[in-house]
Amino acid sequence: MTPKRVLVLWWSQSGQLRSVAESFARPFSEAGHDVALLELEPVTAFPFPWKVSTFFGVFPETVLDRPAPIRRLQLPPGEWDLIVLTTQVWFLSPSQPFAALLSGPDRGIFLGKRVITLISCRNMWIRGWRRLVGLVQAQGGIVTDRIVATQGGPVFASYFTTLAWMLTGKRDAIKALPSAGLGADTLVRVAGIGAIAAERLGAEPRGGPPAPLLADLQTASVSYPHAFGEQLVGSLFPLFARIISAVSRPGSLVRDVSAVAMLCFILSAVIGLFVPFVIGELLFRPWVDPWLDRLATLPVA
Ligand SMILES: Cc1cc2nc3c(=O)[nH]c(=O)nc-3n(C[C@H](O)[C@H](O)[C@H](O)COP(=O)(O)O)c2cc1C
Repeated sequence: MTPKRVLVLWWSQSGQLRSVAESFARPFSEAGHDVALLELEPVTAFPFPWKVSTFFGVFPETVLDRPAPIRRLQLPPGEWDLIVLTTQVWFLSPSQPFAALLSGPDRGIFLGKRVITLISCRNMWIRGWRRLVGLVQAQGGIVTDRIVATQGGPVFASYFTTLAWMLTGKRDAIKALPSAGLGADTLVRVAGIGAIAAERLGAEPRGGPPAPLLADLQTASVSYPHAFGEQLVGSLFPLFARIISAVSRPGSLVRDVSAVAMLCFILSAVIGLFVPFVIGELLFRPWVDPWLDRLATLPVA
């Protein structure tokens, strides 16, 4: 075993992403690697729980890659053999703190480095993950693997339970539905994948090419009807974001009104389009599912 230097970057509001990062990182430390677990720090903290106005108020800047800044990373000196980005998805885009990292003064750390993306979100991850990979690649990073931890249980219910969790801070805000967030079994699965990655990283000679560590493992899953909906509805998001950003500033009255309009749009899209997307995916499965599988897989062009 040759010990390597591993940087695990994370940021979390509820603590969920922190648990995911720690679950993945622990086996690396146990295997003898030198692990730095580092939290991103937004200059101005995002609210949690959110209000409708603040939650949907961050929509335009998130979708248009105009993130609020984060503080400089306090990095231990030296080179990294592996960087792990433990990232959430916001509005089918990378969350703002990670978009800020990848466009801010510390973006140089990715140049020529092997990167594993460790996504944790409700369920819709493909577009946000692809955008994240694009941002890493733009900084010269080499994304070799992706792990995705999504909420279990019925996906349709998770639209409502996750929104209620974000707006109240309580995972069980809707008592009649399963609690929002990741189950303990998912953290165990993430730790298991971390253990395999740690062992394989240790078996590599120092200074070798940045090869995939997990290519033979199932490290993500796709809920096809929802992912189909994500691709079609998500393609409208940049247009909506441009319009809202052209007519309003964050925190303004117009932005608050547009936040309520976005809430209404999202709820009507979920309720009104769920059945059409289930039927569409069923009818066109031989074309739709392989397309989605391609979008969800490396390499991302
Ligand atoms: C503003 C906002 C937008 C979100 N959009 C999505 C989304 O598009 N897809 C998704 O699966 N989850 C979405 N989520 C859920 C997050 O990805 C994540 O699971 C949740 O915020 C927990 O992360 P935390 O550890 O930072 O609390 C969103 C959350 C927030 C706050």
